[in-house]
Amino acid sequence: MKAAVTAHSKYTISDIDPRLYGSFIEHLGRAVYTGIYEPEHATADENGMRKDVIDLVKELNVPIVRYPGGNFVSAYNWEDGIGPKENRPTRLDLAWHTSESNQVGIHEFADWCASANTEMMLAVNLGSRGLDEARNFLEYVNHPGGSEWSDKRIANGRAEPWNVKLWCLGNEMDGPWQIGHKTADEYGRLAHETAKAMRAFDDGLELVVCGSSNAHMPTYPEWEATVLDHTYNEVDYISLHMYFENRAKNTANYLARSIELDTYIGTVAGVIDYIKAKKRSAKDVYISFDEWNVWYHSKERDKATLAGANGWPHAPALLEDDYNFEDVLQVGCILNTFINRADVVKIACLAQLVNVIAPIMTTPGGAAWRQTIFYPYYFASLYGRGTALRLMVDSPTYKADDLGEVPYLDVSAVHDADTGRLTFFIVNRHGTEALDLDASLLGFGALKVVDDQVIAHSDLTITNTAEAPFNVAPVKATGSLVADGKLSVKIAPLSYRMIRLQ
Ligand code: AHR
Repeated sequence: MKAAVTAHSKYTISDIDPRLYGSFIEHLGRAVYTGIYEPEHATADENGMRKDVIDLVKELNVPIVRYPGGNFVSAYNWEDGIGPKENRPTRLDLAWHTSESNQVGIHEFADWCASANTEMMLAVNLGSRGLDEARNFLEYVNHPGGSEWSDKRIANGRAEPWNVKLWCLGNEMDGPWQIGHKTADEYGRLAHETAKAMRAFDDGLELVVCGSSNAHMPTYPEWEATVLDHTYNEVDYISLHMYFENRAKNTANYLARSIELDTYIGTVAGVIDYIKAKKRSAKDVYISFDEWNVWYHSKERDKATLAGANGWPHAPALLEDDYNFEDVLQVGCILNTFINRADVVKIACLAQLVNVIAPIMTTPGGAAWRQTIFYPYYFASLYGRGTALRLMVDSPTYKADDLGEVPYLDVSAVHDADTGRLTFFIVNRHGTEALDLDASLLGFGALKVVDDQVIAHSDLTITNTAEAPFNVAPVKATGSLVADGKLSVKIAPLSYRMIRLQ
């Protein structure tokens, strides 16, 4: 099977905001406790944070981490997580039917971010709480001193403000499962007033308003229109979330879901344009895709805990999806979609980062290892920075259940004009046939292949485990060649490929 791509240095989509490769830590399951924080662990630093986990996060070069939720934030009292640890209350977490010890709060998380070379993206609780707590939290985090909340921060050991720029106005407020769920009008009004108050403190903040929890919500996409109608002039981003699953065990249909993702992004971009025109606004609002991942492997296992059958456990194993090789291909396609939509999607957060639907897993008291999906995220985060190219793609297609014709070739390319680096991220969705790919390279000058990595496996269901952490890992590929301004390469069936040219 043949496929062709044309890349031209001047045919661009947009500069990529590095925050496209963000992630997410929620107080959920073992993400925090025995994930990033485990004071008794052999690698724990002076703050009780696992250094083995920090090293893996650093390897991923994660630009931002959203915190503290997720559903958790909608009944969270941020004040519970400040002050001497021995005085912090244990609360019942209504979102995940667990207990929250509050041994990690904003100070501990901020220190962890500094150790992991990443920035904070904070969410305020607009479920059980509202404007007042949001403005107090903001004052605590960002005001230098001389006010009630900033002085409390100083008294709690942090003299300098953290100056967090990026704030989420609640989480998934369209979802009936959300504590404090609201209608679009109720939420839109509250988000508007909260944004106004936060901007009165600092007009330079970047604010994210909640869009839909997924494209199958009954309120989608009217939710986006109503909420933006209330908030357009006060916010910078509207958030979208989407999770992927293959319960039907149909690889072809599963790998086609990124087409649905692309449509979802396109539809919301259209709603943004509509409200922009309606308001006669000169300002742009972008998409923050601040939760995305594969999530289905653990759902059956979690039912009892979520239904309360286990009481209120502290940090139980929840949402611990064991990712397989097939999920590498899915995550590769999702990241390609974000790169190809980098003109409207500026921020995206892989949900989540450690233990909970995560690329990094830990054993309490034991090892930390890379799940299969670590690798496509790693390659995109490291080499997907620069300018997204508008590729012309000619690929044979197949028919997916409800999504029409789907190309076997899924591809994106990022050019870094400063270094001259051009990187292709490629997935072959075909189950049995290789793709003979020719990519014409125009306007880049002389290029040669400097790195070529493939992820492939004969078993789609194979996973990485603590005992066998490298069942799925990238290996150096051979056979790619640039000659006469053309890259020629054979892409194996059901494989992921990253090719770097310079
Ligand atoms: O990431 C897991 C959960 O998925 C988040 O808490 C919630 O926002 C979403 O439904």
